[in-house]
Amino acid sequence: MSTPVRSDFLQIEGVTAVFDGFKALDVSYFGVDWGDLRVVIGPNGAGKTTLCDVISGKTKPTTGKVVIDEKDVTRWRDTEISALGVGRKFQTPSVFDSLTVYENMELALPGRRRAWQNLFGRETAEQRDRILALLERTHLIGRKDHLARDLSHGQRQWLEISMLMVSGARLLLVDEPAAGLTDTETALTADLLLELKGNHTLIVIEHDMEFVRRLGSRVTCLCQGRVLADGTLDQVSSDPQVIEAYLGRGKAGR
Ligand SMILES: Nc1ncnc2c1ncn2[C@@H]1O[C@H](COP(=O)(O)OP(=O)(O)O)[C@@H](O)[C@H]1O
Ligand SMILES: [Mg+2]
Repeated sequence: MSTPVRSDFLQIEGVTAVFDGFKALDVSYFGVDWGDLRVVIGPNGAGKTTLCDVISGKTKPTTGKVVIDEKDVTRWRDTEISALGVGRKFQTPSVFDSLTVYENMELALPGRRRAWQNLFGRETAEQRDRILALLERTHLIGRKDHLARDLSHGQRQWLEISMLMVSGARLLLVDEPAAGLTDTETALTADLLLELKGNHTLIVIEHDMEFVRRLGSRVTCLCQGRVLADGTLDQVSSDPQVIEAYLGRGKAGR
């Protein structure tokens, strides 16, 4: 593997995460430039979600350093890291079922979650326009007054991505957004993430190689907690170690 180029927005150096003596993560260096979209692939149990946990502060690294936007956040609380502009989308969409689509978007506005009593306060006209434009973009506009519990799985994914878009987060950690989606839904999800690239920094964990190809972005392959390969999808998927450890197990390269 070539020496990684130092990256400016997110830097992970010498990070291990050890659970009961088991090293779930062992990354000597992982960096992402501002505005980039990085895809992280790797077999089940490779440490992909743990990597996001360490970046978001949910898990404290056992050793090493996490730097976001030139701030050493290694010992920061998850709420402090979130306030710095790190947003997360989990494998299972975490939207509020008993609220409407529009209310979920209101709740995602900066500061709203910390001030529950302001949930139904008036957003500015600019915020309202932004929410409506996003709902239009994600084909949810016709559903804006429907309860989130009545959405399809794909619509819930887009609602959650839209909520991240409106939240003001700058670094987005997106865990397996295409899981369980149809081909058409997958294509729209890829388009949305690509739209965020450039004015957000994204880390997207994904198993679906067709989706990864669509994203057309730099790929890092994790295996047993370590960075196995890093580069374009073609470079990574032709790496003998990656084929041996991951793609050889039935994950087609294209
Ligand atoms: N909080 C935890 N406590 C104990 N083991 C954990 C914890 N989080 C993750 N692990 C273990 O770390 C390894 C990596 O898990 P994970 O990051 O979820 O992998 P991936 O997302 O790549 O499938 C797994 O073996 C998992 O069981
Ligand atoms: Mg995972």
